[in-house]
Amino acid sequence: MNRTTFLGLGHYVPPKVVTNKDLEKTMDTTDEWIQQRTGICERRYVEEGMGNVEMSYEATQMALQRAGLKIQDIDFIILATLSPEYTFPGTACFLQDKLGVPNIPALDIRQQCTGFIYGLSVADQFIKTGMYKRILLVGTEVHSTGIEFATRGRDVTVLFGDGAAVSILGALPESEKRGVLSTHLHADGRFAKDLWIENPSSRSHPRITHQHIEEGSWYPKMNGRSVFVTAVKKFEEVIDEALDHNKVKKEEVNLFVFHQANLRIVQSVCEKMEIPMEKTFNNIQKYGNTTAASIPLALSEAWEAGRIKKNDLVCLCAFGSGYTWASALIRW
Ligand code: COA
Repeated sequence: MNRTTFLGLGHYVPPKVVTNKDLEKTMDTTDEWIQQRTGICERRYVEEGMGNVEMSYEATQMALQRAGLKIQDIDFIILATLSPEYTFPGTACFLQDKLGVPNIPALDIRQQCTGFIYGLSVADQFIKTGMYKRILLVGTEVHSTGIEFATRGRDVTVLFGDGAAVSILGALPESEKRGVLSTHLHADGRFAKDLWIENPSSRSHPRITHQHIEEGSWYPKMNGRSVFVTAVKKFEEVIDEALDHNKVKKEEVNLFVFHQANLRIVQSVCEKMEIPMEKTFNNIQKYGNTTAASIPLALSEAWEAGRIKKNDLVCLCAFGSGYTWASALIRW
């Protein structure tokens, strides 16, 4: 059996910066409210002509360069997003075309904010068994074209931003004792409607109607309180699960990379678990919640900042719509 290791990290965010002050012009909100409740100062939005495929393409170029690899070295593309470019086919197929590597498999996965860790777990199984050797794992999100710029949607709209990030995964012999040590995946569909988009839906006849548009049911809806409280609880549980499974103490972990949902969630978990905030890496201040892109974007920037070194123990954890939650422990 092989071990899965990270060969290269890359990210891309669109150049258009949207501050909290900019949002004040479109809805009843304030910079102070947003910063106090979430830690977010600004986020990035795509402009026409730029989408998940273009952003992921740019992020892939950065990761390939850092890994010293060519796109032809990749033998599988796994792409996590909750904002696919089209209902079908999956966005991974469009990215594969842009990258110019026909024939290799291209798989889309959902799982929202937990998508990257679900994708990492899927990739890990293929690499461990030797079926694939180098996997491009993508997390990418365009929220800005599907959120409501009006007071009705303010609770959700202020949170989300656009961006893409990738990790190139490869194989190491097990004897190296490095790489992905374990992944832990969970879901609880009883809470599926606490954070969701109702329409367009294949249950609706037809899938999209004028009424859907008028009532705003094509925008995300969220039970913010429930998400917050459950996230804090599940983050704690799933981090403990990863530590216990590997018989590792939290003090031994060099860096915790949380899904960037809300800085207050990270602070609450750290307070409860007695993890110093200095052991976390956060960039939600600049990007908001970029959902499937958030963990690989944080990983890529943490690595750039010298916060991840060879042999460091890194814990990834995520919680999001579904509800879904997950963790991974990596010896870098
Ligand atoms: N600006 C100003 N006021 C806002 C607002 C905004 N952007 N969004 C909501 N409000 C208002 C609410 O309408 C409410 O007003 P009311 O008391 O008159 O009804 C008031 O602020 C308080 O709302 P509440 O929901 O109690 O605030 P909160 O302290 O729970 O914070 C969230 C709201 C959304 C920041 C918080 O619940 C949260 O972060 N939840 C988790 C969200 C998340 O991480 N989602 C992604 C998961 S992956």
